[in-house]
Amino acid sequence: MPDPTGTTTWQHFIGGAWVEPADGAYFDSTDPATRRTLYRAARGTAPDVARAVAAAQDAFERPGWRDLSQTRRGHLLRRLGELIGEHAEELAVAESRDNGKLLREMRGQLAALPEYYHYYAGLADKIHGSTVPASDRRVLNYTAREPLGVVGAITPWNSPLTLTTSKLAPALCAGNTVVVKPSEHTSASGLRLAELALEAGFPPGAVNVVTGFGPEAGQALVDHPGLAKISFTGSTATGSRIAAAAARRFVGSTLELGGKSPQIVFEDADVANAAMGVVAGIFAAAGQTCIAGSRVLVHRSVHDELVERVCERARTIRIGDPLAEETELGPLAFEAQREKVASYVDLGRSEGARVLTGGAATDGGLGGFFYEPTVLVDVDNTMRVMREEIFGPVVAVLPFDTEEEAVRLANDSDYGLAAGVWTTRLARAHRVAARLDAGTVWVNTYRAMSPMSPRQGFKSSGVGVEHGTEAVKEYTRLKSVWINTSEEPLADPFTMRS
Ligand code: NAI
Ligand code: MG
Repeated sequence: MPDPTGTTTWQHFIGGAWVEPADGAYFDSTDPATRRTLYRAARGTAPDVARAVAAAQDAFERPGWRDLSQTRRGHLLRRLGELIGEHAEELAVAESRDNGKLLREMRGQLAALPEYYHYYAGLADKIHGSTVPASDRRVLNYTAREPLGVVGAITPWNSPLTLTTSKLAPALCAGNTVVVKPSEHTSASGLRLAELALEAGFPPGAVNVVTGFGPEAGQALVDHPGLAKISFTGSTATGSRIAAAAARRFVGSTLELGGKSPQIVFEDADVANAAMGVVAGIFAAAGQTCIAGSRVLVHRSVHDELVERVCERARTIRIGDPLAEETELGPLAFEAQREKVASYVDLGRSEGARVLTGGAATDGGLGGFFYEPTVLVDVDNTMRVMREEIFGPVVAVLPFDTEEEAVRLANDSDYGLAAGVWTTRLARAHRVAARLDAGTVWVNTYRAMSPMSPRQGFKSSGVGVEHGTEAVKEYTRLKSVWINTSEEPLADPFTMRS
């Protein structure tokens, strides 16, 4: 929808149509590489959320969705995956401009995204209950896995399409309808996704998007009594608030939260590979990933070599326009995020850490919100830069002497999202993987992800599972049905039946 200022304006997408925000308010979305306004998005409030939940409830109850065969549901997911594939370049560019991620990373994400829909398309007709043995042979007891109803999905800005898909695909697969509240920093791609879902054949109201700010649109969604489930990805602080609000109404929540993931480099590791893994783990996406490998624990005997290799690569990282093919590091997604990163590096300095490389903001030659790839040493595991999620291109390196100490340091964290292990010893790889308090452990690789592989945050990193077959269960409820197959009169009302 072009408007007279030349800026695109996005309304909410509710019940299969574009809907003007109830109070007519919009907000600007900025390209973080250039600070230019990209578009205006509707600033959602409670009435918009109420309208979206009503549309989703209506869609959930209509025969067009409720009575749709599971096979057909699978076809729709498959079609949506195909449409995303057909629009991959457009979506990749939109997302890259919105959050500053490298276009080449976004192209990679978009190439993988259809597979998530195809995976859940394949699962749609495999959701079923079972027959349960009853002790009274005249009784038939079976279970049914039912959809929950309207799912609220609240998503962040760092990988909007992928993280929305992690919720949308299994929720639709299980027969729910969804209201998405994307991050205020990246509203556009979720709206396009909802539009494509309609085009794929999902009935109007199956996928709705209300844009706006967390305390307004997000909070209104969490508080809406029509929600059957809330699925959230973002900061641990917001996740905790959302889970508490949901729990007050006995609504379940799936939470994918922050991390402070360790990368453990043993003395027997291929150090060159490990250094590449460390760089990938923290500087890819400018460190704005929940799984960022932000704490490097390295055996003292290879400490200097590893640090040298990481710093050398960090210094040659090409900072610039995320749309340019040669760029390796784009901007932080918005100004406050860069301020947060800068203040953590200052905090690290004041706590006694030494900055080996980086440690300064830059405009990337474009006027944008860039920050240099930064390596900190002389840290200990009690410092705030070692304990709190920075969500930027900042890594801190700490030496250790024994495997025991490495495992203890790795697990000494409030978080438990992911961990990297670099070793050439097979026994050690398995032994350490088993002892780490992390939902995902990568050995001699990092940042691998697939729709087939379940992921769960341990400790403050989350609740519930995303991806894999397990994720579908997060969006279903289990019903137990007892059928008396006997026609004999019921005699004694005071004994329990089984
Ligand atoms: P956030 O967690 O506050 O926002 C995530 C989503 O929640 C957004 O859609 C936001 O609008 C919504 N939200 C915020 N407050 C809400 C509320 N009261 N009720 C309902 N929804 C609400 O994160 P934000 O502000 O975007 O970034 C702040 C920090 O969070 C970052 O600096 C980073 O450290 C961390 N973060 C971590 C992520 C991860 O994947 N681990 C992803 C995004 C942010
Ligand atoms: Mg933006």
